[in-house]
Order: sequence, then C-alpha cells, then structure tokens
Amino acid sequence: MTKPTLLIVDDDEDIRVQMKWALAGDYEVVMAGDRPAAIAAFTAERPVVTLLDLGLPPSPNDPDEGLAVLSGLLVLDRLAKVIVVSGQGDKQNALRAVGAGAYDFLCKPVDADELSRVLRRCVYVAELEREYRAMQEGARPEPFEEMLGVSPQMQAVFAFVRKVATTSAPVLILGENGTGKEMVAQALHRRSGLRGGPFVPINCGAIPENLLESELFGHEKGSFTGAHVQRKGLIETASGGTLFLDEIGELSAPLQVKLLRFLQEKTFQRVGGRQEIQSDTRVIAATNANLKESVASGKFREDLYFRLAVLVVTLPALRERGGDVGLVAKEFLRRYGAQHVKTGLAFAPDALRALNLHAWPGNIRELQNRVQRAVIMAEGKRVTAKDLELADAAGAAPPKTLKEAREHVERELVQDALRRHAGKITSAALELGISRPTLYELMEKLGIGRE
Ligand SMILES: Nc1ncnc2c1ncn2[C@@H]1O[C@H](COP(=O)(O)OP(=O)(O)OP(=O)(O)O)[C@@H](O)[C@H]1O
Ligand SMILES: [Mg+2]
Repeated sequence: MTKPTLLIVDDDEDIRVQMKWALAGDYEVVMAGDRPAAIAAFTAERPVVTLLDLGLPPSPNDPDEGLAVLSGLLVLDRLAKVIVVSGQGDKQNALRAVGAGAYDFLCKPVDADELSRVLRRCVYVAELEREYRAMQEGARPEPFEEMLGVSPQMQAVFAFVRKVATTSAPVLILGENGTGKEMVAQALHRRSGLRGGPFVPINCGAIPENLLESELFGHEKGSFTGAHVQRKGLIETASGGTLFLDEIGELSAPLQVKLLRFLQEKTFQRVGGRQEIQSDTRVIAATNANLKESVASGKFREDLYFRLAVLVVTLPALRERGGDVGLVAKEFLRRYGAQHVKTGLAFAPDALRALNLHAWPGNIRELQNRVQRAVIMAEGKRVTAKDLELADAAGAAPPKTLKEAREHVERELVQDALRRHAGKITSAALELGISRPTLYELMEKLGIGRE
C-alpha cells in the first residue's frame, strides 16, 4: 500500500520537523513554510490532507495569510482537506477557517493521539468523496487487462496478477459465478512468458465423465468404441501455453489421480496408450465451489488440492466491490449504447440507487446482461430501474449534490455516535475521530441535539 501524502504548512521549522517525525510512519510528508511554497507543494503533490498553521509570514500574528492559503487550496481543489492548526486562544479564527471550508481544526499544542485520529478519519472521508466524485462525473476507469474495477479489492486482484503471471506454478482462482475467473486466467496467460502459446479453456463440469478423460489426455486409435483415429487431448494442444480447467471441483476421482500425476511428472498417457508423453503446459484451475470442503468430505483429493493451490486468488463478489458497481455499470452502458447505436444514454437516479442496492448474485455477468437488456428496452436517454428489471428502492429521495450526500452521511454518523455514547460529547467525538469543538459545530450545522 502506498502511504497517503500529507502537506504540513508551518513557518516554525521545529514544529515541521517534529510533526514529520511523528507522522512519517503513516504518511508521505511534504512541508512548506509560507503561502507560495504551500501552493506549489499542493499543486505538485496533490496531498490527501493539508495541516495548516494560520499564522504565516509575513503576518505571523494574524490569520489572514493562513486563511489565504486555505482559500487558495480550495480553489485548486474544492474538496481539498485542510486541517487548521491554531494557537491557544485563537479559537475564533479557527472557527472562521472551518466556516471558510476547512475540514477540522486543532489547537496547539497538538495532542499526538488526537492528531492521528483526526487524520485517519479525514483520509477516509477524502477517499469516500473521491469515489463518489468519480462516479458522479462519470469518470472512465482505466481497465487492467480488459478488467474494470477501481475498488481496493480489485486493485489487489490486479496486483496479484502482475506479480504471479510470470511464474510457472499452478494458480487456483476462486470466486462466485460471473466474478471474472476466466478473465483473470486469460490475463495471467497474456502476461506470462507463454503468451505466444495457446490459451485452452475447458469446463470440467460441462463434459460427461467418460468423454472428459479423452478430451483432456487424448486417445489412441481403437482405444474405445468410436475411437477411429488417434486424437490429441487438450493438455497436448495447450503445450507451450496455458490449460484453464474451469469447475475443477467436478473432476471425478480417477481423473483427479491422472491430473495429479501430470502435475507431478509433467508426463501422461493417452487413453489406451502406453507411451509417456511430455507436456510443458501451465495449469490454471478455477471453481466457484468450496474446494476445502470437498477435500474435507473426501470428494476432492487433498494432494491434488495442494498441487493446484500453490497460488490462490479469491475474486470478490461484485457487492463487495464498493463503488465499482456504478463505474462498471456506466462503462457497460457506454459500450452497449454504442453497439446498439444509442448514444448519450445515462442512468436515472432511481437506476443508480437500485444498482447500488441490488445484491448481484450473478456478479459482473448479471450486471452485463441487465445493462445490455436495459439499453435495448430504454425509451429516450434515461435508463431507469425498471429497464434494468431492478426494484426501485422506495424511501428517501437520494442526495443530489456532494454537499447533501456528505451532510446525509455526517448526520447518520453523528446521530449514531451520540446514541451509542448516550449524548456524551467527548466520547462521541473520540469515536468519530474529530475534535470536540468540531462535533459541536457539526451538531449545530445539522441541527442535532444531544438526545
Ligand atoms: N472486472 C471485469 N470488468 C469487465 N468485465 C468483466 C469483469 N469481470 C468479468 N467480466 C465479464 O463478465 C463475464 C463473466 O466473466 P467470466 O466468464 O470471466 O466469469 P467467471 O467467474 O468465469 O464466471 P463463471 O463462474 O460463471 O464461469 C464475462 O463476459 C466477462 O467479460
Ligand atoms: Mg467461468
């Protein structure tokens, strides 16, 4: 994980260095001592959070220069997260700064625990806002090997693919239906040294057992009724490339033995044959079943499991991918729109809400199908929940602006925390990761009482 970047603006070198020491473990720290340096550093580094001392040269005794930095940063990025650090007895100015758009304020001397808590919370909020903004602005996500996804869960999958693609060890891909297991297998193949060779997929669950053996290992002429000619199996076909064994959990016990032998020795025999045949095929397996359970119940050989599961990646279900649902849906809408010569389509608010509330048992494939059908069904430019055949969530109107969305979330969080702490401001603020005065401010702004 890369550390979030933090900008410290303070004219006191001692304080800058002190803060840097305290925070360098968790943040990439950048520092500036005056307004021009702060603006330059912000532009160059795009910090997630800025800690801003209000008293800056040339007028260290009044807050004007600090407030000017604040408004400058907010012009550069209206969602910039600035935490103001003010001197003792300077609360009035700190409140002014919050009124002008600062995220929070802290009083000197800054308590290290409170600082780290406020910062963590602030980074979290910034992250949520970034995702929300990307969705609102319809940013087009950059695909990785044709796979879409900006959630940390999918970034972890992409990182796995980058890392292991070039090894020859078997990979086991786990995940529900339609989560992209085959796409990951193809990505691994394309990024491996075998990319010049074939990628051969086979669904072990879709082929009758008696045919599967000869499909995989081939057969000699006359080895069984109907075997009129010698035939190569897919393991041979995939030589110099990748064999993708889908639904590996469906493999019968005898075939499990034969596959295990191939993985251990890199040789096998055709059905009805005596000759040992060599193949350097790389094996990638996938399943949506719980293989460990199959091992425990004796349905799947443990030794084969360990051979296949040298490297394991579990694909997250779509409902676990946070903001990905909206982003991916929009990209599919654009693609299918172009395909069906219906450009300029957009989701209606009820559709976006329904997309985010649906549980997606069929994952990306289901999303693809629903969007494709909706493109065909939609009348006009608006794709509705009904076009997607999703139930619209009855209830409160959705927030329309970022400000409304933020206030909505803030209200829920604050009310929740106050309820849990029976109206005790100090402990509620502690849980929320904000300072006490900020909690008072928030309560006033949102019209929330202690009860
Ligand atoms: N991250 C993604 N971005 C874009 N499209 C995706 C993504 N993941 C999957 N898809 C698409 O979703 C569909 C299902 O993907 P895939 O066949 O790889 O899933 P699977 O896990 O193998 O499914 P099953 O378990 O049903 O075999 C495909 O059309 C694929 O192109
Ligand atoms: Mg599949």
